[in-house]
Amino acid sequence: MKIIGIVSSPRKGGNSQTLVGHILSGAKEAGADTELIRLCDMDIEPCNGCNICKSGNGCAIKDDWALLCERLAEADAVVFGSPIYWFRLNAQAYPFLDRFYALLKRDFTCDFPKGKKLVVALTCGGAGPETLNPVNEYLKNVFNYLGFVNAGFIWQNNCLKPDDLANYPEKIEEARGLGRSLV
Ligand SMILES: Cc1cc2nc3c(=O)[nH]c(=O)nc-3n(C[C@H](O)[C@H](O)[C@H](O)COP(=O)(O)O)c2cc1C
Repeated sequence: MKIIGIVSSPRKGGNSQTLVGHILSGAKEAGADTELIRLCDMDIEPCNGCNICKSGNGCAIKDDWALLCERLAEADAVVFGSPIYWFRLNAQAYPFLDRFYALLKRDFTCDFPKGKKLVVALTCGGAGPETLNPVNEYLKNVFNYLGFVNAGFIWQNNCLKPDDLANYPEKIEEARGLGRSLV
């Protein structure tokens, strides 16, 4: 079983990356093959709305997105991790998500392999469920459209300094358990 963690935070080793890392560790412990990918280490341009993808030739923008999609197509589960910036995902997450548009055919159906698991992992400062639940719903909507199924949601607030997640050992344990449950 292959599980890919995708993290959108620009902070290397920050809280959201660490949270995803713990989920992946749990999954690895249970026998999965895991990989963590940082969107900020990749070249992923925003969608320019050219609609060339709707003529059936894929995305016209040639960057790392297609490569990343190939990796996703091979995975059995994806753990998507992001910080909350102004009540939503951080900006670097959106080019990656918007470009999924290129996977949709002219009739908006999609041949992306179905049934992959999605886990959402969010960290933030003072926000609570009133902010985090809608962001989780948003991500579920995007990934469900491609045929992913929901396999978990985990979040931690009061994570302003990059290593604040370490103050929540019970959350780290929950993350590892969530990872194990994916396998
Ligand atoms: C530009 C910016 C906007 C933010 N907006 C919010 C917010 O609306 N609500 C919140 O609770 N935290 C907010 N935060 C705090 C981050 O969500 C929090 O520090 C998060 O854990 C960072 O994740 P990282 O360590 O993976 O980068 C914001 C941080 C930045 C830099």
